[in-house]
Amino acid sequence: MALYSEKVMDHFRNPRNVGVIEDADGIGEVGNARCGDIMKMYLKIKDDIIEDVKFETFGCGSAIASSSMATELIKGQPVSEAMKLTNKAVAEALDGLPDYKMHCSVLAEEAIEKALEDYFEKHPNKRKDV
Ligand code: FES
Repeated sequence: MALYSEKVMDHFRNPRNVGVIEDADGIGEVGNARCGDIMKMYLKIKDDIIEDVKFETFGCGSAIASSSMATELIKGQPVSEAMKLTNKAVAEALDGLPDYKMHCSVLAEEAIEKALEDYFEKHPNKRKDV
């Protein structure tokens, strides 16, 4: 069996939603101390819907594929759904990641979590709505 699924390779080679949102409503940056990789997520939120999401990463191929898939999974979704996104769901959507690469998908989950925290900090009235 190939080490990486076709979906991982596709999202690694053609990552979706790469870039920066200048007027983002929430920004989250996380890093993994062990491998040194860094991930940054930008969220544009309107009426409690994730209107746009972009990411930048200094990370490995699995981190790129995971963030690409994670952005696809939350784009257009309500904030309440984005809050529930787990790294497991990201890995499953990619048809699996090798065990030793699961932490790369955690980075994507954590970056989204942090961007949402940032959004709630900037919009304290929103927290009760979701
Ligand atoms: Fe660190 Fe993939 S090896 S995020």
